[in-house]
Amino acid sequence: MSIEVAYQSSIRPNSSTSYGVDEVLTACPGTGDLLDIQYDWDRIPVPASLREFEARWSSRRNPLDYSGVWRFRELLPFAPPEQIVTIGEGQTWLQNAAQVARYVGVKAGQLFLQYEGLNPSGSFKDNGMTAAATHAHMVGARLAACASTGNTSASLAVYAAVSGLFKVIVFVGSGKIAYGKLSQALDYGAVTLQIQGDFDDALKQVRAACESAGIYLCNSVNPFRLEGQKTIMYRVLEGLNWEVPDWIVVPGGNLGNSSAFGKAFMELKQLGLIDRVPRLAVINAAGANTLYQLYEQEGLRWNNGQPDEGLISTFYQHMDTENRRASTLASAIEINRPVNLQKCLRALDFCDGVVREVTDAEILDAKAQVGAGGLGCEPASGASVAGARLLRQQGVIAPSDRVVCILTGHQLKDPTATVNYHTQPTDEGAATNFGNSPIAVENNFERIMDVIRQIR
Ligand code: F0G
Repeated sequence: MSIEVAYQSSIRPNSSTSYGVDEVLTACPGTGDLLDIQYDWDRIPVPASLREFEARWSSRRNPLDYSGVWRFRELLPFAPPEQIVTIGEGQTWLQNAAQVARYVGVKAGQLFLQYEGLNPSGSFKDNGMTAAATHAHMVGARLAACASTGNTSASLAVYAAVSGLFKVIVFVGSGKIAYGKLSQALDYGAVTLQIQGDFDDALKQVRAACESAGIYLCNSVNPFRLEGQKTIMYRVLEGLNWEVPDWIVVPGGNLGNSSAFGKAFMELKQLGLIDRVPRLAVINAAGANTLYQLYEQEGLRWNNGQPDEGLISTFYQHMDTENRRASTLASAIEINRPVNLQKCLRALDFCDGVVREVTDAEILDAKAQVGAGGLGCEPASGASVAGARLLRQQGVIAPSDRVVCILTGHQLKDPTATVNYHTQPTDEGAATNFGNSPIAVENNFERIMDVIRQIR
């Protein structure tokens, strides 16, 4: 593995300019387009079969083989091994979820949940942050920053605290940041700037600040981050004994995951490591549905690398004129200007993708079903299950299809949302569909026994 075989280039298929991996870029300097990390695969010793990665299970004392990201390092070979920054990320679980299969409406045994909340900081972000922190290490960055709805900041703060390699500034909005997430950034010692605005505002500001002060930016416009996030798909395949599922369903916010998943499958197919590609479903919250509107209603497509940029800018102009702000209880995906839009279009194109929107009520019901049958997840993650259910109802997903829903964040990230759901009636006055309220009982043995006797 050497760094010369990896380089950065624009995502446009006809782009001829490339940049070294020693450069710190978040957009193509010439065109402003998003960047990819590309590899000269002919010069890289890639395994003949994905099954070969299983050999690393027996050498888990090597931190790189322990990591659920770096044990696939031949598929993201941009870093010298000695510079890799890992904190044991990617020990996640693919659960065959019977209860959720019933809820979604697919056959028993066909619904899987990929629990990325089991990562060290409690979200999928660690898959990407280990790669960004590694690149920050490679270029000798001393100060890193990100804007965040909470999980990116928690993840970046952990990598800085554990590695001690750099200091961290995180920009968060003033609206809905879940307390679990904010508490992490504070506890891990990140300098936390609470911007009077939302995530879209915070991201705009942090990009300008990083540009002006030479700070290393760790949002998903950083192409190295998405290299790490590809490995979520490798672990899903591993969990399925290297069989490709019919569907990957993922919540869509800034569209980093969906973009990374598409790249993972493009490369695996190119390398002959898979023979078919799953379909991709990206699920927006109805209150933050830019991708849904552009893709499903306006018909925006990747179009061989020439998406209709006019359509996109007109859409954003209208959004600004109407002062439309993202609004959803799934605060992690409360984003109206997804920075990876074009990359996601490419992923949707390659994976014959669909986009759907689901309401907050649907998200919270789906989240409760996940919690009742397993380890639970935060609201944004529930969008993937709610989306799978909708696609099944619409007949897009068949009952016999094998479906993997990505649970992006841990249940404890947003306890307020969970407790509110279980204890509060809905606006209409009825209890929420799967609420589980605590039972108030007098401090009296007989009264307690009265309640216990009613439990069947
Ligand atoms: N799920 C969770 C739990 C998230 O935290 C995020 C994004 C997403 C889904 C959306 O993923 O951007 O790849 O489409 N959270 C970011 C943050 C924005 O700042 O933590 P995406």
